[in-house]
Amino acid sequence: MASEDPQVADRAMKKYGNLNDRFLALGGYAAEAEAASIASNLNLPDRILDQPLKTLSGGQRRRIELARILFSGADTMILDEPTNHLDADSVVWLRDFLKTYPGGVIVISHDIELVGEVVNRVFYLDANRSVIDIYNMGWRQYLKQREADQERRKKERANAEKKASVLQLQAAKFGAKATKAAAAHQMVRRAEKLLSGLEEVRVADRVAKLRFPDPAPCGRTPLMANDLSKNYGSLEIFTAVDLAIDRGSKVVVLGLNGAGKTTLLRILAGVDKPDTGVIEAGHGLRIGYYAQEHETLDVKRSVLENMMTASTTLTETEARRVLGSFLFTGDDTSKPAGVLSGGEKTRLALAMLVVSSANVLLLDEPTNNLDPASREEILGALAGYTGAVVLVSHDEGAVEALNPERVLIMPDGTEDLWTKDYADLISLA
Ligand SMILES: Nc1ncnc2c1ncn2[C@@H]1O[C@H](COP(=O)(O)OP(=O)(O)OP(=O)(O)O)[C@@H](O)[C@H]1O
Ligand SMILES: [Mg+2]
Repeated sequence: MASEDPQVADRAMKKYGNLNDRFLALGGYAAEAEAASIASNLNLPDRILDQPLKTLSGGQRRRIELARILFSGADTMILDEPTNHLDADSVVWLRDFLKTYPGGVIVISHDIELVGEVVNRVFYLDANRSVIDIYNMGWRQYLKQREADQERRKKERANAEKKASVLQLQAAKFGAKATKAAAAHQMVRRAEKLLSGLEEVRVADRVAKLRFPDPAPCGRTPLMANDLSKNYGSLEIFTAVDLAIDRGSKVVVLGLNGAGKTTLLRILAGVDKPDTGVIEAGHGLRIGYYAQEHETLDVKRSVLENMMTASTTLTETEARRVLGSFLFTGDDTSKPAGVLSGGEKTRLALAMLVVSSANVLLLDEPTNNLDPASREEILGALAGYTGAVVLVSHDEGAVEALNPERVLIMPDGTEDLWTKDYADLISLA
């Protein structure tokens, strides 16, 4: 546009005008403001918008993913476990958003409340991925219908099997006489047809059988933390956190997404260093750390190899046996951990804890990614474990199963005795 040649300048000016109109029409000038407003709706503070993604907390990262989809203005959304790692506020927000979203949504979710309120069709995959049933109805109605279908299929199968066996018996009798051979043949054919026309009866979903390890003996207070603080640049995550974990004690850590819960657990586990303060290991301490995003798994090594690193005394036979009870069989055990599904990674990480004889478990949202049946299993195991546990969770059921004596509120680091009132806080945090 600054050209000396008036013709060139003129042409450039026109082109600029056109492009500018187009930019405006496509919402270019409004885009940044719109993006910022979506981010703030999702409670993403401004400061994190410049952070590299890998430094975000689990919940923050999920919100960014959602914000990106919402910003794209897509008319169809495909969401794979969107509520994992989100705190209760964000889950409620997402549920309301999806309820009124005018476009189509395909959602994979273990969050029954979410699907209960949002969906009007259900695709149900069975454990062997061999049958997909489609129900054109909402969730609650689907649950009833599914049960009725199962019953019907079972009855039909039993009936058909009975009839078929009568026919086969008849056919066997007839078959002995040459004059009745044709009739016998027909009966066999009918029996076969009866059986082949049946709808598949579902195989019950398998669930991992789970018990946490017998904790190795240890002193009265296996883990102590004094005056911990952590900053990232000028951002203070927490200061002056004290914590004493006595043998067998149960502590729950609460706080919103980004409050510093994972940071604290990583420091307790010895993965990260605090800026100030010290961690004191008591006599006999053995830590079992379950990382929120499975960072403790070596993605390049196989399932079995990962398992073997969890304990020095573990034999391969024993490792395979435990893996089997966590539903890893045959070929599964030679897969690299990196290709596992979210739920499978969770199962592997839990299996590694089980063989570790840890006496202090640091569990960072261990029920995310699990289907309801597997979740029940781990809650049962948690309830029966005799070692000490520090649990971070947005899952009320998990905290209830732990039955904690104490609660630590982040980012303040305030410690208190557990009372029922704190249970209400979980549904808020
Ligand atoms: N390397 C880093 N650089 C800058 N900020 C960081 C870094 N690592 C973590 N943070 C910030 O520290 C805060 C605490 O993160 P942390 O993962 O401990 O949260 P959290 O309580 O576990 O949250 P969530 O419930 O989402 O898992 C977050 O605001 C996060 O963005
Ligand atoms: Mg976290």
